[in-house]
Amino acid sequence: MFGFKLGKDFLIGTGNSAFQSEGAWDRDGKSENIMEHYAKAYAGKYAAGYVPGTVDITRRMKPYSEDLPDRGCFFYDNYESYIEDMAKTGQNTYRFSLSWCRIIPTGVGEVNPKGIAFYNKVIDKLLEHHITPFVDLYHWDLPQCLMEQGGFLNPEFPAWFETYARVCFGAFGDRVKLWSTFNESDIAATSGYGTNRFPPFREGNREGQLAGHHVIIAHFRAVRVYKSMGLGGKIGAVNCFTSITPARMKEEDLGAAERQTNRRFDWWTQPMLEGTYPQRLLRECAYVRDNMPENYQEDLDKWFVPMDFLGVNYYICNRTQYDPSKPLLASYVENFYSSPDQQFAPYPPGLLDVLIYIKERYHNIEVYITENGCAMPNIHDPEAECDDPERITYLREHLRMCVRALRAGCNLKGYYYWNDADSYEELDGYRLRFGLTWVDNKTGERRWKKSRYYFSEICKTHMVD
Ligand code: NOJ
Repeated sequence: MFGFKLGKDFLIGTGNSAFQSEGAWDRDGKSENIMEHYAKAYAGKYAAGYVPGTVDITRRMKPYSEDLPDRGCFFYDNYESYIEDMAKTGQNTYRFSLSWCRIIPTGVGEVNPKGIAFYNKVIDKLLEHHITPFVDLYHWDLPQCLMEQGGFLNPEFPAWFETYARVCFGAFGDRVKLWSTFNESDIAATSGYGTNRFPPFREGNREGQLAGHHVIIAHFRAVRVYKSMGLGGKIGAVNCFTSITPARMKEEDLGAAERQTNRRFDWWTQPMLEGTYPQRLLRECAYVRDNMPENYQEDLDKWFVPMDFLGVNYYICNRTQYDPSKPLLASYVENFYSSPDQQFAPYPPGLLDVLIYIKERYHNIEVYITENGCAMPNIHDPEAECDDPERITYLREHLRMCVRALRAGCNLKGYYYWNDADSYEELDGYRLRFGLTWVDNKTGERRWKKSRYYFSEICKTHMVD
């Protein structure tokens, strides 16, 4: 008989990030980060990269929200009751990120004791409730003062990051045993510095690739420091993976899907695990090859160190076809599973595809689904928003895929629903909501959605219906 069971040791919980959840953006010595800075600069306007009339099926550009990430879901002030809710849910893990601006407000230099104290309280409270912390060093919130010195483009960036990482490992590494360096480098570097669609809104192929290269070197330097400190935990990175399929039954479309996958996912995962960039892209795409940073392979050879596990954020699928006019010789086309206005159309089978790809391509590396979440519009109606059968179906279908992946032999160790509570969504502010807990982002009032009660049953039984 076929039942959907997760092993006893399977980590299952929720996640959130610092700038999206904490609020208190200017309190206790914290400085401004780029997400706060650009939210103010573009409030209510189209973001810099928007070209009116563009049909962009990967991100349908709309005006930047007028909301600012200055409140999030009020986690900074209410972390204790949030963690008590996690304990009541029965989850055995929580993924969150540290704010570089809270810990070292000047980016590099003096450590802020109040920042360290806050995260110590969060970690201790989680452990008191037997909730394993999974900690990201960086979730998009670069200190604005470092941005003013070029951000990822500054050749010193890897050294800045290493210094920050060392402080974090030193302060929390005795209790935190699961670390990740960067969240979704593809968005932060390529969309941020290459295609002008994400803070800090820069454009240029060469810049995008240089920013990404510095991120990869910074990742290695943090992993090296971590390993040298002998703290006994594991360290990885969180990369996003959309399941990308060929539009037609043609070899040329299959090639297009492979190139897109190489670009979005393997571009980050392959160097982090094997110390090289995907050769196919370098061979087939002049746009990639001609914009590589100087001496990139020497840098990789010098700093490479494999990470222990891979974190994967999975939300959507894409269809693609061969298109010689495009830099990757591929362009996205409408897919079967979303309507034109749907930014996050769920496609549960894609999660299985992604996990099987990782198993086959990366020697069955240990993997965590670090994000997977159901987006719904904010309709300012708590009754209606808490009655969320779509999110229940979403959870059931994706977690069933996790069980199928386990049965197929994938080395899947955990699943984090995104996100714990309705928070600030980059570019969309408080108008798009993923949470299992409903939050009034003006007052901080909150309630469990039906999906949280459902998720709680899964966490407590380690079974999926
Ligand atoms: C991935 C990002 O890591 C997270 O910050 C964001 O909220 C979700 N995607 C949903 O867009």
